[in-house]
Amino acid sequence: MINNTQYSDGVIAGMQMLYGAGFLSPGGPDEVGQLLSDFDPAGMRVLDIGCGLGGCAIMLVRDFGVAHVTGIDIEPELVARATSAVGDAGLQASVSINQVEPGSLPFDEKSFDLVVTKDVICHMPDKAAVFAEIFRTLRPGGTYLCADFFNVGAHEDIPVDAKASYDSYVEGMKAYGLSFIFEPQFAYESALASAGLTLHEFRDHTAVSADVAAQERSFLAGAGSVSIKEALGDERFHARIHASTMREKALGARGLLHGHIHAKRID
Ligand SMILES: C[S@@+](CC[C@H](N)C(=O)[O-])C[C@H]1O[C@@H](n2cnc3c(N)ncnc32)[C@H](O)[C@@H]1O
Repeated sequence: MINNTQYSDGVIAGMQMLYGAGFLSPGGPDEVGQLLSDFDPAGMRVLDIGCGLGGCAIMLVRDFGVAHVTGIDIEPELVARATSAVGDAGLQASVSINQVEPGSLPFDEKSFDLVVTKDVICHMPDKAAVFAEIFRTLRPGGTYLCADFFNVGAHEDIPVDAKASYDSYVEGMKAYGLSFIFEPQFAYESALASAGLTLHEFRDHTAVSADVAAQERSFLAGAGSVSIKEALGDERFHARIHASTMREKALGARGLLHGHIHAKRID
């Protein structure tokens, strides 16, 4: 689980330079568009779990016409920043940001038409428990959209370079200060099923994410990254370059996978 030390001012500043204002995950606003392609959330009541700096919540109202977004996060600093970004955007009436504790969601059953998680479940230890809470808080017929990273699990056929690059990526991110609890796609699918959610579609997004990581690595190697280096300091900047390089390799070798899950509460 994420603790309060993982997102320092420097990391928050550096990530927004890489991923876009309001975003703490690769792909930023472009990926929100990809996650929502073929899905029209206009007029919906939305829950954004792990809203971070609020970029996705703001985008859902401003660019997709949703009626209301509730963004929740466990990190007080991120909640404060997201709240301030919502105020700056003049969207207080249609976006509320709440700090929560890990575990049960503080909402009544059937409160939302749509739940979104962008690169959040990979930080949570119990996928089935969070999916059960998503099922409970979705209305019947409601949708869950999830962008996340997966590992390939443990089996003998995994190519050596896929395993090695995945292990180096995980170690690299630890050195950078971020930790994950990766699981394979099939573990997500079985946790969704045990929570009562029906898988509607899985889109493999690994190749797109590998391109995003390649762009990130080349940006970090270029002159444009001076301000990221200043924000992170030398040691963390080098850890960031290593982690981005290993993410590109792990995604390229398919030791790390990225995908979009589209699931529904059907009852
Ligand atoms: C990689 S960041 C992604 C943030 C945001 N979704 C984005 O794409 O910019 C993961 C986020 O999940 C939050 N998080 C981790 N565990 C959580 C939990 N149990 N409940 C709510 N948020 C959580 C973290 O604090 C962090 O903001």
